[in-house]
Amino acid sequence: MNKEIVNKDDTTLIELVDVTKAFGEQVVLKGLNLKINSNEFVTLLGPSGCGKTTTLRIIGGFVEPSSGQVLFNGKDINEMPAHKRPSNTVFQRYSLFPHLDVFENVAFGLRVKSREFQAQYKIERLVEEYDKLIENEKDSTKKKELKKEVEEKIQLIKDPNFELKQKINELKQKSEDLKNGIVDASLLKEENALKISKLQNEIDRIKLELKTALDKSNDYNKIKKEKQKEIKKLQAEIKNLDLKRYYQAEIKKYRRQFETPKMREEALKKKVFQYLNLVGLQGYEYRSVDKLSGGQQQRVAIARALINEPKVLLLDEPLAALDLKLRQEMQYELKELQRNAGITFIFITHEQEEALTMSDKVVVMNEGEIQQIGTPEDIYNEPINRFVASFIGESNIVEAVMLDDYKVLFDDVIHECVDKGFSKNEQVEVVIRPEDIDILPKGKGKFDGIVDSIIFKGVHYEIGVTTKYRTYIIHTTDHHLEGEKVSITFQPDDIHVMEIWE
Ligand SMILES: Nc1ncnc2c1ncn2[C@@H]1O[C@H](COP(=O)(O)OP(=O)(O)OP(=O)(O)O)[C@@H](O)[C@H]1O
Ligand SMILES: [Mg+2]
Repeated sequence: MNKEIVNKDDTTLIELVDVTKAFGEQVVLKGLNLKINSNEFVTLLGPSGCGKTTTLRIIGGFVEPSSGQVLFNGKDINEMPAHKRPSNTVFQRYSLFPHLDVFENVAFGLRVKSREFQAQYKIERLVEEYDKLIENEKDSTKKKELKKEVEEKIQLIKDPNFELKQKINELKQKSEDLKNGIVDASLLKEENALKISKLQNEIDRIKLELKTALDKSNDYNKIKKEKQKEIKKLQAEIKNLDLKRYYQAEIKKYRRQFETPKMREEALKKKVFQYLNLVGLQGYEYRSVDKLSGGQQQRVAIARALINEPKVLLLDEPLAALDLKLRQEMQYELKELQRNAGITFIFITHEQEEALTMSDKVVVMNEGEIQQIGTPEDIYNEPINRFVASFIGESNIVEAVMLDDYKVLFDDVIHECVDKGFSKNEQVEVVIRPEDIDILPKGKGKFDGIVDSIIFKGVHYEIGVTTKYRTYIIHTTDHHLEGEKVSITFQPDDIHVMEIWE
């Protein structure tokens, strides 16, 4: 039933295939199928208890599905624990550390995750590689040697200066080789030989110049001294190009790059400031988090999740605790953030307006099932059933009969519409959005009726017009009086015909 969005340019990042979840006897997810693209803002929308959080927790790896698969880039990640998944989560209640300030709350994720994480990844690769080598090695002493080797390498990886130390070891080896008469010819040729010959040429030129000088007057000695100085300098350079010295200089250079705790802290600080800036919290770095407003705390939570640069950010009703104005502001900011950071957001809300304004793709859920997947426009204009139609904004929903293609009967009138492909005389439901109905003078529209309620909604009036069969809700900026006799009308493409779902 789900209408798939086909967009050739997009690549599927995450896919749920027939995911179900039961807690004991209670089945809370009944076979979800969903594709999420890279850089997409996807919203899970549905009433309380419909399974939104459970779905998100399954994607994040905090809950195991009862059956079905979660794919990431086409690979099954069911077995992958939460901390290894390419996602980060902002939970419904934003669990900040009250005893830490804003800076430390944001730095936290980085402190625990970054280095260890990368190191862990490298170690796993290394172990994989060595396991194969060890398995294929028949000789038991060599096996032991390999095991020792991998152990040493693991120790090295755990060291923050691992790569530099590796480079130094290589140079030391080359230096050692040099002693033993093994010369890295390529290095000699490329890096040194050419330079040496150039320097030598220069020296020869100066010498020749001195020899052939015609004018050997008083100044000559002075010039000679200067030139000889120059020659010495060039000769020293040649000496410096001697390979051994070259290696030593390189080793020194690498040693100078060793990462110290101070440097690490500075890099971290820079990054934390960058992300606090991104969520508009510059200047709040050293405030205690319990002295922040709800919206500010929310931003801290978002910065903390973003700083690890996840591919996917999972947000479980992150704006629920905010008042309307702040929520609207944050909606806008989050959307901007998503666009700028270029990551996939999976966002949960039970507010239809929030879902429609923020999302590229909306997934409407009810009772553990996906009802409809589509763009906000699709969902709003072409709701697939009564649940979606009534959940997404106010609607007039009317039982009707599809007489034939483009012909629908309701309230005793045959209406022209734009839908086709139903069986003849199929029972259907029709949805007409309140803003699509116009009020005309009595006798000029499709149904006559009486204005029986008027509510001012800020931008428009919500007017109830009672006709022979029902009361239609209409949104209009025109003013009418209660008790006024009017007529209502709508266009063929304002009538949205829906199948009846059991
Ligand atoms: N750990 C659990 N054990 C038992 N039942 C659970 C558990 N977690 C969730 N449920 C049940 O699963 C159903 C779906 O819960 P879920 O939290 O996914 O809903 P939701 O859509 O996020 O709702 P809300 O909008 O209220 O947050 C609910 O009936 C809930 O009671
Ligand atoms: Mg929830």
